[in-house]
Amino acid sequence: MAKMVEEGAVALNVEGAFYNPRMRLNRDIGVAVAKSLGISDYLDGLAASGARGLRVAKEAKVEHVVLNDVSPKAVALIEENAERNGLGACEILTSNANVLLHQRHFEAVDLDPFGSPSPFLAAASRSADKYLFITATDTAPLCGAHLKSGIRKYMAVPVKAEHHREMGARILLGAVARELARVDKGISPLLTHVTDHYARIYLRIARGAKMADRALEGMGHLEQCRICGRWRTVPGMACRSSGACSFCEGRADVAGPLWLGPIQDRGAIRAALSELEGSKARSERAVRLLQLCAEEIDVPMYYDHHRLCRKFKTTPGAADNLINDLRSAGYSASRTHFSGVGIKTDAPFELLQEILCSI
Ligand SMILES: C[S@@+](CC[C@H](N)C(=O)[O-])C[C@H]1O[C@@H](n2cnc3c(N)ncnc32)[C@H](O)[C@@H]1O
Ligand SMILES: [Zn+2]
Repeated sequence: MAKMVEEGAVALNVEGAFYNPRMRLNRDIGVAVAKSLGISDYLDGLAASGARGLRVAKEAKVEHVVLNDVSPKAVALIEENAERNGLGACEILTSNANVLLHQRHFEAVDLDPFGSPSPFLAAASRSADKYLFITATDTAPLCGAHLKSGIRKYMAVPVKAEHHREMGARILLGAVARELARVDKGISPLLTHVTDHYARIYLRIARGAKMADRALEGMGHLEQCRICGRWRTVPGMACRSSGACSFCEGRADVAGPLWLGPIQDRGAIRAALSELEGSKARSERAVRLLQLCAEEIDVPMYYDHHRLCRKFKTTPGAADNLINDLRSAGYSASRTHFSGVGIKTDAPFELLQEILCSI
């Protein structure tokens, strides 16, 4: 029996293996990133039908692609799909990903598991030489909606707030940065996005204890006030928060440890964008997403424009006007891909209030 689908430049039989058409955007971007980085050795560690790894082999023209899945049924499909697409040179394995990752090193390791990538992070951190790409579909634990599960999986405490999607991405990045640091590797995030029901991160790895130490400087905590709703970042692995809001002295929840460093690399995103724009897999949604990621300013977290206006009892005008006003006042400001009504800025809260209330 066959259930055929076409995606990008490959035709796949997906009968009997996990295949989610809604993840196509995730794979389209993954292929563009792999191509723009000029990767030559890539592992799709949890490959299912092979959709991701086979597309990377065919469209990104990665020389050595390894596709692995623990399920023999999935592996039979990967073999069939590789053959069908003229990708017989791909290496196809039936291993537990954790065993394989402890046995071998790869230039780029891609993890796309069911739910949390947490069970694979230790082994993947050892195996990945230059790049680590990770999908996490457990957004409820990451973003603070399932608190205990999030703490178990990521050894960090998320706080549920207006910027919960970015909170989830930074909890994940923080967990990965700590895991890599154990094996003397540091991270530089190239691209981070939270889309639909998942978070996706693309990391460049720098080897050496010094690089790991430097990466850990990107770790910290976030104080989130229960009363006034404002937040403050507190750098460092040690939690230096007093638990009181530094603005209103109300009780603050503390999130962390999480990643407070940069999450987008403009140059890397623009390079992926130009691959995507020239490819058959070009979709307006993927292009717009990457454009937004490239425009995001490097400031942790964002305000919900509409929520702010409700708080100040005013009606929201155009987000672009607010951004322009903040910039005219000498501050950085941008939209964010995390939310259609999100505003990132380094301007003081009082200025936001002043601008919004003067409209
Ligand atoms: C979400 S699917 C992968 C989807 C695929 N990457 C795609 O883009 O279509 C997860 C896959 O991981 C496999 N899997 C689960 N645990 C595994 C393990 N420990 N080692 C290797 N594969 C595993 C499952 O059999 C399943 O096919
Ligand atoms: Zn407060």
